[in-house]
Amino acid sequence: MSNNPNRTSCARNLTLCANAEQASLYVAEQIAELIQEQQKLGKPAVLGLATGNTPKIVYQELIRMHQHEGLSFHNVVSFNLDEYYPIYPEDDQSYTYFMRKYLFGHIDIQPHNIHIPHADCPADAIAQYCKDYEDKIKAFGGLDLQLLGIGRNGHIGFNEPGSSFESTTRLVDLHPLTRKDAQNDFGTIDKVPHHAISIGIQTITQSKKILLLALGANKSTIISQALKGKISTEVPASILQTLPQVEYVLDRDAAALI
Ligand code: F6R
Repeated sequence: MSNNPNRTSCARNLTLCANAEQASLYVAEQIAELIQEQQKLGKPAVLGLATGNTPKIVYQELIRMHQHEGLSFHNVVSFNLDEYYPIYPEDDQSYTYFMRKYLFGHIDIQPHNIHIPHADCPADAIAQYCKDYEDKIKAFGGLDLQLLGIGRNGHIGFNEPGSSFESTTRLVDLHPLTRKDAQNDFGTIDKVPHHAISIGIQTITQSKKILLLALGANKSTIISQALKGKISTEVPASILQTLPQVEYVLDRDAAALI
């Protein structure tokens, strides 16, 4: 049990928090601790990062720690989970733009240590591009910590229902629900790309530590399926049940059905 009244550590790597802010601050603390531990060892902290609504307060807190508590990101090497395809990095809806706006533009990460799938490469170059992305993660010894959100259909990264648990970085088709959820960002559904580049489920599951953060009532149904349901490629996040290095961090609303 934690001493924090807003947070309860339960069995099976489950941390329940009073609200989205508490959950996000807890995740930010863990990321900051890892970065500082690796700094003491003179090593890089290799972070797998997510976009979307879920990590926004986490990133806000990391920026605050950088600006007010001296947290440095000079040893951070980051790999983002995914990017729409095709999209230009300078497009407002791109995850390159998102990361600059919500995190990288405000911290001292070294630009050459930032990796986000570049989804402006020609179709015949994608397979090689994805292999190189995967090889770069391996060259750093794999991900020390992967931060995940979860899609309402159970996707992690853009590994949609039906994705193989052995999948690695590749071009994927986006599920209709994923495209619908992205509609607000793009304006109309026809502007939402049909494809994305996503790191694979195998790539994710090989991370040394995985934090899955889920916030809000609209995640409660899928969280209950992912944590308590059958392990199945139809709910990609269900594979995480088998992994000892996973921690689920949920706010009260997301945890309502477990
Ligand atoms: C984003 C990503 C996705 C999101 C998921 C939840 O990089 O990989 O899996 O984490 O779609 O999105 P939000 O947080 O917007 O609910």
